[in-house]
Amino acid sequence: MKLLIINGPNLNFLGIREKSIYGNRDYSVLLGMIEQKAKELNIDVETFQSNGEGEIIDRLQKAYYDKVDGIIINPAAYTHYSYAIRDALASLSMPKIEVHISKINEREEFRKISVTAPVCDRQIMGHGLEGYLMAMEEMVKLCSDK
Ligand code: DQA
Repeated sequence: MKLLIINGPNLNFLGIREKSIYGNRDYSVLLGMIEQKAKELNIDVETFQSNGEGEIIDRLQKAYYDKVDGIIINPAAYTHYSYAIRDALASLSMPKIEVHISKINEREEFRKISVTAPVCDRQIMGHGLEGYLMAMEEMVKLCSDK
């Protein structure tokens, strides 16, 4: 099973940005956690981070040609307004899970709207970095149910 985990803008700044919201652990810690979980689950995981909308869309389109089995995405701020990323996600028929480190529904008004969640199968929020690991477990179930 081949999984792709995409992280959007500023997530490479984990451990630097707004620590009271996103915590002290940095992006490399997250990558280590994902790698460890992938070993436990015995799956292949590729990670991708970009601060650019177009790069994220290009990576999503590549996932189609690569025949990726499932996509986990934290579109970061693009969650709230990128119809282009939403359309790219909607083009893909494999299971998709949206992850947020924070509880976006309990923060500023603009964060309460996710334009990307309706084209994903699940949304996991407010579990910190562990949310990615929860999404990986959930994805294995979604893919085996398919
Ligand atoms: C985030 C929430 C977004 O509102 C924010 O723009 C982010 C991170 C989260 O993981 O909690 O960059 O997606």
